[in-house]
Amino acid sequence: MDDLSKLLEGSLKEIRQAKDKPELEALRIKYLGRSKGILQRITKEIPSLPVGQRAGIGTKIRRTREKIEGALETAKPSFETAKSGATIDITAPGTKIETGSLHPLTKVIDEIKEIFHYLGFTWIDGPEAESDVYNFQKLNMPPEHPARDVQQTYYIDNDTLLRTHTSSMQVRYMENHKPPIRVLFPGRCYRRDMPDSTHLPSFYQVEGLLIDTQTSLTELLGSLEFFAKQFFGAKTKTRVYGHYFPYTEPSIEIEVYYPKRGWLEILGAGMVHPSVLRNGGINPDKYQGWAFGMGPDRLAMLKYGISDIRILYDNDLRFLNQF
Ligand code: PHE
Repeated sequence: MDDLSKLLEGSLKEIRQAKDKPELEALRIKYLGRSKGILQRITKEIPSLPVGQRAGIGTKIRRTREKIEGALETAKPSFETAKSGATIDITAPGTKIETGSLHPLTKVIDEIKEIFHYLGFTWIDGPEAESDVYNFQKLNMPPEHPARDVQQTYYIDNDTLLRTHTSSMQVRYMENHKPPIRVLFPGRCYRRDMPDSTHLPSFYQVEGLLIDTQTSLTELLGSLEFFAKQFFGAKTKTRVYGHYFPYTEPSIEIEVYYPKRGWLEILGAGMVHPSVLRNGGINPDKYQGWAFGMGPDRLAMLKYGISDIRILYDNDLRFLNQF
């Protein structure tokens, strides 16, 4: 038994001192060789040992063999590179690791959130399959209302549709939250439009809703101008003109001046109509609000100079890798 420990110690020392691969191989044969290896010889001697000394010796031999094998394995690689003369070439170009990136629409939506977060807004998702009640009726658009015509709607059944705008979240949110309210509703909307370079049957909107005891049209205009300057740059020119939405009064649209294209509409907005507040359980004598709805697809096209909206949904990596 003592001999085995000494043998192990000696072999490990020799392996550490080996200078090249042939020397290692010689040591492997010396200790582990099938026919004349030292361990093999010891194994053969077991039957001639006195019975009292035989117990456990097999295990001990096996452990010694494993340790020597391990030491040989560890020593090998250092000779392998040294022998072939290979060293690490630190000037060789590395293997490029491809990382993913955010979709341009995701980036735009994140940026809208970030800018309005600065003004105290949070955000929440809402259902894309919506009831006619929240998408139209509670927003002053009863079944016969002409404003429904411009919103070519996909109906699922008589009362359920794919929301045509994120304004569908306004009354839903009012029903469950008390003012002061400052919230964004980002998400997908649907309209029966023929696909072309500026229209798709599915697109995004980000709705904003603010309700408080003291708000004003001026505050709305100031906030939207702040947004436009943050998003497009400090020198951006915007202009406002009157519009009509059944759920805001007064209603406006905002255009941004884009040198290459001229004035472009980016959003609709207005002061929340008193009866919409009432529909959401909020007293219009005590509270006022403003709301806006903007199109991230449009904003992405303007910001990144994209001329065809469809490319945003093609998932072509040649396009996406540029972001
Ligand atoms: N819902 C309008 C649209 O889809 C935008 C809008 C939102 C207008 C909120 C006024 C207030 O064009």
